[in-house]
Amino acid sequence: MKTFFLLSGENPALSAAELTHLLSVFGQARSVTLVDERIAVSDVEASEAREVVYRAAYAKLAALLLGKGVSVDDLVFEPGWEETVQRFGSFDVLVYELGGADVDSVSVEKRIAAQVLEKVKGVRVDLSNPDVSFVVLVSEKVCVAGLALALKPKKFFADRKAGLRPFKIPSALQPKLARCLVNLAVNTKDSRVLDPFAGSGAVVIEAGLMGHEAFGVEVKTWVANGMRLNTCSYAPSKTHVIQGDAKRLPFTKAFDSVATDPPYGRSATLGGMPFKKLLKQFCTSVVSVLDEKARMAITVPKQLFPDLLEECGVFKLVEHYDLYVHKSLTRRVSVMVLD
Ligand SMILES: C[S@@+](CC[C@H](N)C(=O)[O-])C[C@H]1O[C@@H](n2cnc3c(N)ncnc32)[C@H](O)[C@@H]1O
Repeated sequence: MKTFFLLSGENPALSAAELTHLLSVFGQARSVTLVDERIAVSDVEASEAREVVYRAAYAKLAALLLGKGVSVDDLVFEPGWEETVQRFGSFDVLVYELGGADVDSVSVEKRIAAQVLEKVKGVRVDLSNPDVSFVVLVSEKVCVAGLALALKPKKFFADRKAGLRPFKIPSALQPKLARCLVNLAVNTKDSRVLDPFAGSGAVVIEAGLMGHEAFGVEVKTWVANGMRLNTCSYAPSKTHVIQGDAKRLPFTKAFDSVATDPPYGRSATLGGMPFKKLLKQFCTSVVSVLDEKARMAITVPKQLFPDLLEECGVFKLVEHYDLYVHKSLTRRVSVMVLD
């Protein structure tokens, strides 16, 4: 089934990479076409689309593609779209304007609703409790329309934002980026996820919530204790907290996924060790606990990216994306595999 996904505007390239990887993890490797920066189209089953929207940090919705055009005025519907809509008794219309598209959402909603009512017999508009939502995405270049398969709740991450967790540290990752790192790092739904620099546990929590066995290693005892408080609050059943050293990981070969945010000396201290040396020793250690197909999603400040490549040469870089945080920090998210 041709399905379209709405990607987050925060970082469309990273969002597309996350979606593409998740679609390969949840089924066969699928081609994903970007019909615009924030609109991706792929051939997926409804159940997969739902699972992917639930998992993905940056996918906002998925919908069955019923119509496409260069603008709302030029929407061309798929043959038989009326029968698809007719299976539902009632609908509402949700219009999303993307990237400066100059449209009046309310009038588009009314026009699409009128079109559906005219062409599809027996359906009615219900704005409070519709059986299905008719989604219309309008960008400057393209318009797509279809039936919603999954809509990510607006407050999906609200209860576990870094500042709201029971235990807080200044360097904590927000849940969205933590979840994206996990999604880029996993090979399967059953991947065992390791965060060797786990801090307050954002990565471990997201991995645990998605059903992965997740292990967080943290060198400072008081931080490890705080992480335990956090993991117990949000994802108690699949998460494990270890007070230990990423340079001497206390495991045997047990992991196929690493998702992490190492300290770089700003708010998370390096214990007096230069960043390059820490990375080198970490990489030597982590390789001994990874199986041969392992993937690693790691974020470091952009200016330290050359150090990552130099000291973690045992990994091959697959892709990387930049996330602007503030004027002195742009994070570079890198996906690497064992070479
Ligand atoms: C950037 S913070 C990670 C923040 C984390 N992602 C979170 O959401 O809270 C890096 C963490 O690595 C820890 N750390 C530093 N050196 C370490 C080492 N050798 N082994 C394990 N953890 C270490 C620091 O204490 C810090 O908590």
